[in-house]
Amino acid sequence: MNAIVLTHGGASARMEWADGCDAAAHVAMQALDAGRTALEAAVAAVNLLEGDGRFNAGKGSVLRMDGVSMEMDAALMDDAGHLAAVAGIRDVEHPILLAREVLSTPHCMLAGEGAVAFARKRGIPEYRHQPGPRARELHRQIMRELAEGDFSDMPQWAEQDWRRDWNFLTDPELAAGACDTVGAVVRDRHGHFAVATSTGGAAPMLRGRIGDAPLVGCGFFAGPHGGVVATGIGEEITRRMVARSVYEGLAAGLDPESACRRVLADFPEAWDLGILAVSAQGGAHLANRTLPVGREERP
Ligand code: GLY
Repeated sequence: MNAIVLTHGGASARMEWADGCDAAAHVAMQALDAGRTALEAAVAAVNLLEGDGRFNAGKGSVLRMDGVSMEMDAALMDDAGHLAAVAGIRDVEHPILLAREVLSTPHCMLAGEGAVAFARKRGIPEYRHQPGPRARELHRQIMRELAEGDFSDMPQWAEQDWRRDWNFLTDPELAAGACDTVGAVVRDRHGHFAVATSTGGAAPMLRGRIGDAPLVGCGFFAGPHGGVVATGIGEEITRRMVARSVYEGLAAGLDPESACRRVLADFPEAWDLGILAVSAQGGAHLANRTLPVGREERP
């Protein structure tokens, strides 16, 4: 059976950044060639995307509404029942490597301060993320649009009083979307599947908000029938359990493209959605927006 790797850089990332997704797919394929597991290969791909700086994960994570704080999520899963996630973490360079550490605990997910303290216990050093120019510009744009009541880029906030819910320590008047996640799906030469995801969240967002990326069945799922990752507005992906819904299509015998198409068709057009899926029949990616994707397949 051919080994396949699919990677993506997020539903609202730019197509010209697809070289980063290709590089991540290549790194994962090299890991498989070196005899590493599908799970290790998926982690290697997401680790590279987190370090790229252009994508909304790890170094490229977007700012929360206060324009200061960043909180990140990451997860991994394979068809042997390995499952681990971290949510709402900060001061960790590579959230996916912290998620991998959670594998060797009795738990599936660690969140917030406890997860960060656990990182230090496992020897993962403190890393202060510096928001890049994209994160700062995006934050300025979002806060401007919020202040003007222009919700065209963020329909999820149209009915909300964001000033009332402001839960940061700073003044809301200091502050005006991104919905990217990075992800990888791997099928190794033995037909085993693994997936990994990582994100800086979906701007604009309140403190403590968790999206789909660390939630099993929502942003990711892997089992004996295949592997699936999703990207887009986390709340909408979570409501529809997108990854699990696509997986159920694969388990029912649909090819990856048909399984993705069925879920995409039920997704409101206003919300960005991208899906990668790989099954024993091959791989597919579908999106209702442009989506930078990397792909490698080798005997
Ligand atoms: N899909 C990324 C997020 O909503 O957090």
